[in-house]
Amino acid sequence: MPRKKRKLFQAPRGTYDILPQDQIYWEKIRRVVRDLSGDYGFDRIDTPIIEDTEIFVKGTGQTTDIVEKQMYSFRSKGGDNLTLRPEGTPGVIRAYLENGFINLPHPVKLYYFGPMFRYEHPQAGRFRQFYQFGFEIIGGQEPVLDVQVIQLFLHILRDLGLKKTEVRINSLGCPECRPGFRRALVDYYRSRKNRICPECQKRLKGNPLRLLDCKEEKCQPVKAGAPASLDYLCHQCHNHLKSVLEFLDELEIPYFLDNQLVRGLDYYTKTVFEVTPEPGEVASGQETRQPISLGAGGRYDGLVKTLGGKPTPAVGMAAGVERIIHLMREQGVKVSARSSPKVFLVQLGELGQRKSLKIFEELHREEIHIAESLSKPSIKSQLKIADKLGAKFSLILGQQEALDGSVIIRDMESGVQETVPIAKVVSELKKRLGKK
Ligand code: HAM
Repeated sequence: MPRKKRKLFQAPRGTYDILPQDQIYWEKIRRVVRDLSGDYGFDRIDTPIIEDTEIFVKGTGQTTDIVEKQMYSFRSKGGDNLTLRPEGTPGVIRAYLENGFINLPHPVKLYYFGPMFRYEHPQAGRFRQFYQFGFEIIGGQEPVLDVQVIQLFLHILRDLGLKKTEVRINSLGCPECRPGFRRALVDYYRSRKNRICPECQKRLKGNPLRLLDCKEEKCQPVKAGAPASLDYLCHQCHNHLKSVLEFLDELEIPYFLDNQLVRGLDYYTKTVFEVTPEPGEVASGQETRQPISLGAGGRYDGLVKTLGGKPTPAVGMAAGVERIIHLMREQGVKVSARSSPKVFLVQLGELGQRKSLKIFEELHREEIHIAESLSKPSIKSQLKIADKLGAKFSLILGQQEALDGSVIIRDMESGVQETVPIAKVVSELKKRLGKK
């Protein structure tokens, strides 16, 4: 009988494993984000991965691609409508309202780091489970806060060793002036309806601002002549943008005023921005030549009210961790691996193993970086590993040493060995490693 082939499972499409050899990038990004967020006055918040579906429908927006096509939504056994969060902002605002943050001194500055889920067409830089870190400043309307978010993100990228990134910025106006722009856009596109793609015909009805997001070849000539939001800004929005740009100038942050930047989420008001690699620095292997966005955000002065709070201005952004790692690799950023252990424990036989576990703990307590390979059967194979890891010394506990209560200290560079009593091994090692 032919043998049945065993099925090998694979990670679901658009998801991936973060393997041990990749962890150094993740650790570095986590560390830099944590340290700099703290320096800029942000406190960490972790919200659940599942939220009430309604907060995304109301918050992110009914007509957005995220809500229309990309949410992993389900009904729980108890009958609740839940969604795996496709983005972090609505959950953070829900937590802000639910936990009485409203009574804290404002603005409240929060940051997060965690997985998001979007049912997207997987391709380079686009996953179905991906990680974001993000910042939200809630309860401040000053333009300087918009700039602080951008400044912090650029600082993080710089500390990660990434160069050559570009800021694109626009203003989408507010409920006062946006309707005028929207009307102009709809009028303009309606009279050119037969020259746009079917998707844009839909956008024209549901979410006209997204017309400016279209990447279809066919729509580009129409898009090029479309009205710009900047020409419709009210006095207040105009001044807000002016101040934001002045702050950016002051900080010598180069930017590109992009009047077709609209962003894919409904809650934005006034400032929107995106940070991309400079053209030419675009990651190879991308299906599209559009620069990928490393991070993006903007002001969302209406979201707190939409989700049930008092009118509260806010601004924030989020960044894609996978995309940042990809660019770090592309730009050849060196991330140092975990430092080599100073000492490697080699042991043979059960008694040797037992004693070495104890020594392991003692050395660890003395903060001596130590490694072992308990399951390897021979001294030779263990010494090979010690060599590979770059340990300075090996401690050898064979059958005889275990019985005698002694240990061999081997200098891995010179090969010189010395036998010392177990009781003295810590002090001997400390002496050799120059530790007090
Ligand atoms: P977003 O533009 O949807 O904004 O996502 C922010 C970043 O997440 C993107 O710039 C990109 O780097 C990354 N990203 C998005 N989708 C994927 C994906 N499928 N695979 C890999 N990376 C992805 C937001 O999520 C807003 N919550 C940002 C914000 C915070 N606005 C105000 N506060």
